[in-house]
Amino acid sequence: MLDAGRTETLLEVNNIEVIYNHVILVLKGVSLSVPLGGITALLGGNGAGKTTTLKAISNLLHSERGEVTKGSIVYRGERVQDLDPAALVRKGVIQVMEGRHCFGHLTIEENLLTGAFTRRDGKAAIERDLEMVYDYFPRLKERRKSQAGYTSGGEQQMCAIGRALMSRPETVLLDEPSMGLAPQLVEQIFQIVKAVNEGEGVSFLLAEQNTNVALRYAHYGYILESGRVVMDGLAADLRENPDVKEFYLGMSDDGRKSFRDVRSYRRRKRWLA
Ligand SMILES: Nc1ncnc2c1ncn2[C@@H]1O[C@H](COP(=O)(O)OP(=O)(O)OP(=O)(O)O)[C@@H](O)[C@H]1O
Ligand SMILES: [Mg+2]
Repeated sequence: MLDAGRTETLLEVNNIEVIYNHVILVLKGVSLSVPLGGITALLGGNGAGKTTTLKAISNLLHSERGEVTKGSIVYRGERVQDLDPAALVRKGVIQVMEGRHCFGHLTIEENLLTGAFTRRDGKAAIERDLEMVYDYFPRLKERRKSQAGYTSGGEQQMCAIGRALMSRPETVLLDEPSMGLAPQLVEQIFQIVKAVNEGEGVSFLLAEQNTNVALRYAHYGYILESGRVVMDGLAADLRENPDVKEFYLGMSDDGRKSFRDVRSYRRRKRWLA
């Protein structure tokens, strides 16, 4: 288990605001930090702002007409919000986009090799890492000659993560790895993420709607609602938190409300009492 008090911070997002199309304010002051060697979960429902946060970090908002208008993003003490995504990859930060973007017409192995494009350390090192990826994802080894477009959703998610690992990252920003996958496969993918985290020391910031599975594998979690962090804490504490249980772990019958509703409701109750 990580000791948050003593570990080195890799990534710091300080109070960022993101606006789309010059008018739509989507992130309203989001702060979070990612420690070296940790798995950090960014949780929240549909449209909470998880993908926007990850894209802000890896500077992928421009193509979406989005812009960071306030706050700062710092990686290993250096402001990175003006770096292009390739420069960030060279610094060791890579994003696996939502929806498993593999090149459908390439084989699994060709896809993995495209992940090594920023590397300058030669063919032998790349071959070794290909074997490392196959060790973590035996399924990809079996399918290595198959055209990615014809592999299953789970295999494509594995391929997308494997390709990111081929850049020898220090930090992976992983967007919604569970999306559209059967529970057993989701579990398998999270187990591999954990194994890579422990075996290679790769840090993860993972965005997930699936709070249950994410909090079982992450060390720390942030919960986003409508572009704001409404709660954060050690994953073990969040799992036991009554509000998290009720609103995000499906342990209540009356559907999902918002934290802010609960809070104002409690405030109101205190006020009346
Ligand atoms: N390119 C865009 N232009 C305008 N608004 C956008 C754009 N992309 C996202 N949004 C809006 O920003 C908000 C946050 O979206 P975002 O995709 O970051 O949420 P999310 O937490 O990743 O959700 P999901 O779990 O559904 O992937 C949503 O209200 C969405 O409609
Ligand atoms: Mg998203």
